[in-house]
Amino acid sequence: MKIAVSGKGGVGKTTFSALLIRALNDENKHVLAIDADPDANLASAVGIPKAKDIVPISDMKDLIYERTEARPGSIGGFFKLNPKVDDLPDALSAKFQNIKLMRLGGVKKGGAGCICPESTLLKALITHIVLARDEVVVMDMEAGIEHLGRATAQSVDKLLVVVEPGRRSIDTATHIKKLASEIGLKTFALIGNKIRGEKDEEFLKRHLPDFEFLGFLPYDDSLVEADVKGVSPYDVDSSAKKIIRDIIKKL
Ligand SMILES: Nc1ncnc2c1ncn2[C@@H]1O[C@H](COP(=O)(O)OP(=O)(O)OP(=O)(O)O)[C@@H](O)[C@H]1O
Ligand SMILES: [Mg+2]
Repeated sequence: MKIAVSGKGGVGKTTFSALLIRALNDENKHVLAIDADPDANLASAVGIPKAKDIVPISDMKDLIYERTEARPGSIGGFFKLNPKVDDLPDALSAKFQNIKLMRLGGVKKGGAGCICPESTLLKALITHIVLARDEVVVMDMEAGIEHLGRATAQSVDKLLVVVEPGRRSIDTATHIKKLASEIGLKTFALIGNKIRGEKDEEFLKRHLPDFEFLGFLPYDDSLVEADVKGVSPYDVDSSAKKIIRDIIKKL
């Protein structure tokens, strides 16, 4: 099962991804967690010790050179378009219980369709992960889904878009759905987050009538508190955990 998580900035993608990853881990599933957001913080949300020390793949200059035969930052020159990556998830992930976590890091955008050694390596890695790994894969993405090429997108089993009650979040969901269908990604569902009651849930259902909702997570101060303290949202007492278990059943 390959799951990608997206949504507007700040809606709770990382919080939701971390809860999902930890709940799957508790069900004895092997999980490969991918932090595909350049401003990464999935590792600390999952509760991995020394999360800050994890070096993103895009910063591993020697690795990029070794695999693509070109220096990171170079544009235009010759480099391998199909670098070896199959050993990287096991070799380079941080491990915690049944969880392996990789930080992809960011690639400076050199215009549309930038072709540079680091983006080539990351693309090859993501493609390998969704096509060839047999764990449950959970990818915490930035708001866009540009990381996913067409071939990759078709292998994602579910794109989960986190939405909160609010116009911008609704626009983002509609936009991501359009992008998703353009690259052939059809299995798409929403997670309502920061729900303060019946009214919020109704608001989202009313404005997003053509979407499947897998669950609604309440607005919960203990989740904010977890973030402030730098502990995993899974390690505080919250009703979100039970809702996440129900979402996993639906998945
Ligand atoms: N259900 C919730 N109840 C209360 N606060 C929440 C809830 N979900 C997330 N938050 C808080 O909202 C903030 C943003 O959450 P989070 O970092 O998970 O969002 P994100 O979508 O990953 O953001 P970014 O776009 O910056 O990556 C955090 O402070 C988090 O604690
Ligand atoms: Mg995030």
